[in-house]
Amino acid sequence: MQKIKKIALLTSGGDAPGMNAAIRAAVLAAYHYDIEIIGFKHGYNGLINQDFFNLTPKQVHGLINQGGTLLKSARCKEFHHQDGLKQAANTLIKEKIDGLIVIGGDGSFTGLLKLQQYWQGQVIGIPGTIDNDIDGTDYTIGFTTAINTAIEAIDKIRDTADAFERVFIVELMGRHSGQITFNVGVACAAEQVLSFENFNLSTEKDRADRLTEISKHIKQAQKNRQSSYIIVIAENLWEGGAHQLALDLKEHTQTDCTACILGYIQRGGSPVAKDRIVATKMGVAAIQTLLENKTGVMIAEQNNTITTVSLSTAIQHKKQVSQSLIDVQNNILALSEQSKRQY
Ligand code: ADP
Ligand code: F6P
Ligand code: MG
Repeated sequence: MQKIKKIALLTSGGDAPGMNAAIRAAVLAAYHYDIEIIGFKHGYNGLINQDFFNLTPKQVHGLINQGGTLLKSARCKEFHHQDGLKQAANTLIKEKIDGLIVIGGDGSFTGLLKLQQYWQGQVIGIPGTIDNDIDGTDYTIGFTTAINTAIEAIDKIRDTADAFERVFIVELMGRHSGQITFNVGVACAAEQVLSFENFNLSTEKDRADRLTEISKHIKQAQKNRQSSYIIVIAENLWEGGAHQLALDLKEHTQTDCTACILGYIQRGGSPVAKDRIVATKMGVAAIQTLLENKTGVMIAEQNNTITTVSLSTAIQHKKQVSQSLIDVQNNILALSEQSKRQY
């Protein structure tokens, strides 16, 4: 087996709490196995611009509890073009890199697979995104912290919603995936969870029908003297976002509806235990997987066990929100059912 001498690590796409914990674990494991490790900065931009530095155990001391990423993260437009991929490959060849570990989401893994056209070194992905939308792994690094942050925020919003007897619409992150919205909605006992998985808005009529339904639910809740009403909604679902939905509902219900976009607070902060632990296990596993001579794989956690899944499988389909969670919300908990009875 060929000895791995030097490897590189980068973080790409949206930063996620726990990325630093994965960097720390990978660096300590690399040192344990006597492998030199460097970090490229700002995602794939670092590869194109030859922007890197040596990673040492000293640098990762005190990192496990920090949000963000020591390596910085970014999107990189050039990586979508052949020239960008070639430049990145040239940097890896010039620096004599044997293996590249990328901590990121499905977009980052798509780019990593394309890099293989121009570079023959080993490539390993570590799933790091608050979206938890990657197939083949139960968890992505950052998801648990992000949903806990959102839950804490919505619990606070609930206090004001109760005090003012007001309707709140809280918009949550998640690109095109409702993992955050569904999990947070259920955990906050939201009266409505509006997400890609349970809400079809293909036509103007769909939009009008949904508005009528939600307005009916709100009015029923008011009739039942329910003191607050929280709608969680996935970003990109309603044209114009939460603010537009608030205006639309106000028009239908003649009730004040307040929009609140949680936004980037979901990406920041100290990682919770689950993210620190899963990131640490994945960081170590990435180094061990390189030593096993594997390439083109993502480190995954399935049923609490660390394993590998091919990168092409991981990006083929977006991970679906668990149908049982959708059913629980839609069929058992939703106000549409509760409103059939008087309180
Ligand atoms: P995430 O990795 O969190 O899904 P993005 O989808 O924004 O985040 O992808 C991060 C980066 O990965 C992009 O900015 C780009 O550099 C690279 N990337 C994404 N999709 C592709 C693609 N189809 N081809 C090449 N590179 C890509
Ligand atoms: O992928 C992570 C994420 O935070 C998504 O939930 C969100 O849609 C997107 O990134 C926001 O991207 P940007 O940082 O480019 O605004
Ligand atoms: Mg993504």
